[in-house]
Amino acid sequence: MKAIAEAPSKVIITGEHFVVHGAWGLAAAIPRTITVEVEEHQSFAVRSDAYRGSRHPALRPLGEVVEAMAREYSFSPKVRVFVRANVRGGAGLGSSASTMVALASALSRMHSLGLGVEEILRHSMVGEAGVHGRPSGIDPTVCALGGVILFRPGSAPRRIGLGRTHSLLVSFSGKTRGTRGQINRVAEVKERYPGLFSGLVESVSAVSEMAADRLARSDMKGLGELLNFNHAVLSNLGVSNGSLDRLVDASLSLGSYGAKLTGAGGGGSVISVAPEGKQKSITSGLNARGYETFRAEIPVRGVRSWLES
Ligand code: PMV
Repeated sequence: MKAIAEAPSKVIITGEHFVVHGAWGLAAAIPRTITVEVEEHQSFAVRSDAYRGSRHPALRPLGEVVEAMAREYSFSPKVRVFVRANVRGGAGLGSSASTMVALASALSRMHSLGLGVEEILRHSMVGEAGVHGRPSGIDPTVCALGGVILFRPGSAPRRIGLGRTHSLLVSFSGKTRGTRGQINRVAEVKERYPGLFSGLVESVSAVSEMAADRLARSDMKGLGELLNFNHAVLSNLGVSNGSLDRLVDASLSLGSYGAKLTGAGGGGSVISVAPEGKQKSITSGLNARGYETFRAEIPVRGVRSWLES
């Protein structure tokens, strides 16, 4: 008997980095998924179609999640884990969070633990901490709950209802990156300029609340303006780079309302908000310039799990 769980990946619409320091961040689950299968085995083993070999460092946190859950719920950690990804890793799209959420969910299903979202999140954070060092929790929260979420550490996540479906354009800059180094870079700025930094935390927090309101009211032009503002702040903070800035400029010159880096930066992806009639042409324009771009329709559902014989 196998337990299987599927979780969406995500984009951060506004507030990345500042959310680690207490700001509201706005994130959306997107229809690119991670599927995790678990079954009993003679030892712990993990395999993924995204990484070669079972000893890849990106796979180590999976063992930590299995061990912690096995201890807490008294089951055997001897399981075979298979991870299937239809989202690129290291692209700022939350593949690690999605994997941890799906793993915790699959283990809950396998052992009929009936864990709720809060417990799934608590367990997936063990793995996220292994990957990021100091995660805010925004990534696993949106991967578990799905939809669009306004998130702040220590507050209950707020679901943002959308009047209708919307599309965000997601473009890969061509360069992968690690989150941990980027988080440390921001912590250094905070240490050097604590007063200035706390002002930025407040303004970006307000940007996220305004962005949630614009999206809920389908004011995509207004949302785009906020994306541009947020990208400028992230760029000044030093987490953007030449290729992300060029990608943002390309998207704007093709007619997007707004564009910004999404996730930790330093590489990874850019999201754009575009007028409905221009989404196709902007997507093909960005693809033609070598930036792999897809249209992500939101909202999408959160993690789900099932048994299969
Ligand atoms: O790892 P990413 O690219 O999904 O970035 C996560 C967002 C950060 O704010 C940089 C970190 C966090 O845990 O909130």
